[in-house]
Amino acid sequence: MVDLVLPFITNKSEILDPSAGDGIFIKALIDRGVNTSQITGHDINSEKIQSLLELGIHARCTDTLLEDYPLKDIIIGNPPYKSRRKSIYMKINRKELEKRYYFIGLYNLYSLFIVNAIQHMKSKGILCFIVEDAFFTNRYYRRFREFILNNTYILEIKLAPWRLFHRSQADVRTAILTLKKKDQENYQEYHGDKKHIMRLIDRLASEKEYKNPPKVQNVPQIEYRKMPDHKFFVGVPLSIIRLIQNPPARFGDIAKGGTGISTGNDDKYLRPALEVESDPESWVGFYKSGQRTPYYYKTPYFIEKNYQKNAEADPKNFLVRNEQFYFKEGITCSSVGRKFSAAYLPPGNLFGVNANFFFDNEDDLYYSLGYLNSKLVQYLARKVIHRSNIIATSFLKEMPFRTPSIEQKSEVIAIVKDIINSLKNNPNYNFVPEAERIDEIIFNLYGISNKLKREITGFCEKIIDFA
Ligand SMILES: C[S@@+](CC[C@H](N)C(=O)[O-])C[C@H]1O[C@@H](n2cnc3c(N)ncnc32)[C@H](O)[C@@H]1O
Repeated sequence: MVDLVLPFITNKSEILDPSAGDGIFIKALIDRGVNTSQITGHDINSEKIQSLLELGIHARCTDTLLEDYPLKDIIIGNPPYKSRRKSIYMKINRKELEKRYYFIGLYNLYSLFIVNAIQHMKSKGILCFIVEDAFFTNRYYRRFREFILNNTYILEIKLAPWRLFHRSQADVRTAILTLKKKDQENYQEYHGDKKHIMRLIDRLASEKEYKNPPKVQNVPQIEYRKMPDHKFFVGVPLSIIRLIQNPPARFGDIAKGGTGISTGNDDKYLRPALEVESDPESWVGFYKSGQRTPYYYKTPYFIEKNYQKNAEADPKNFLVRNEQFYFKEGITCSSVGRKFSAAYLPPGNLFGVNANFFFDNEDDLYYSLGYLNSKLVQYLARKVIHRSNIIATSFLKEMPFRTPSIEQKSEVIAIVKDIINSLKNNPNYNFVPEAERIDEIIFNLYGISNKLKREITGFCEKIIDFA
């Protein structure tokens, strides 16, 4: 990161690390020959200040997000990542933070640090931060992404190796953002976004690849503006991007659905099959989060058919949503995990807070099961539409949906029915060859080139490393 900003540093530049901690960035700047008098470090934790001062820089114990400071030429650092739910600081200072950052919403500390840094940069100043990359696609961050696009040129986004922080935190995927503040006069000017080319570097396998990254893409900034909700993408070919920007239709046009029952206490309300065998009239299967078996599985959980009784007795915790779909035949999806899967939801059952879909006719249901489990959808979901390990009805409904020909549709339906029947007889049935045939049909329907097919297949095989 220090090497990224060095070319912009002159002997007049004023440089800030707004959350300096132990001063890793500052030490690296000094090692590269930057004059200590040009560097300032902030930290809210007074214990960090003495060692920062010992480096010979200006160090201030201050709350960067709430106290003012002079404009800077270069801002570099690793701000804290804490969500609004986890940050005590955000709870305590909510009112003050809201006054300053209401226009992007208070979702996470790192987004506030980025906005604060952009506000405190001189025109054409450079920002280089390593932050979580969940904001690229999450809809809560729409206004934040728009703020970045309005106020800066994105020079580079680099998806850092995903194991970078694994010693300290689980599954935090990060990106290194290098931004240049737009001219104040051209503040709201989109025009520059057509000409400005961003350098987008796909997920690196290891830190060794920083210098010569294998997958680099040069894309005009205007492409981010054209994305629904201004989603940021990295390493996605333009043919796929066009599909997302101008979808023929969306999956939500043929599928309805949503979440179902949140019991608030699964131990209290759910039973294993063995315990309810003797009373099949009163208990039904409950399809809830956690299952990652595509196409078909038997749920191990059962719930009382008379769910209304439980909702009335425990209205604060036992929550009932989308009742119109209860006991219907549909599709039930896994709820967490980088890989996601869709399985047949037999009629007569209930479902939990995972994503569930229902259709006007059976053909659409079986076709959709093949479509949702296809590699193309897996890739679109994880790489373009929602970079996280959550699967929600809302963003699956956003999936671009192209109507198949009668032949394509009936072939997919026949294969899906075959897989389901085989899995009913043998839960370990190997359906890979059939699933590959469905992949091929879906790839062809969407006009995916052979090269891209290989890329998508590679991504799906190593989704944990490359998502
Ligand atoms: C992820 S650490 C930065 C680590 C740093 N790069 C290093 O070399 O140690 C984040 C730092 O931000 C500081 N911090 C958190 N909230 C802050 C705030 N509102 N203002 C200033 N510093 C803050 C924390 O005390 C912590 O030292």
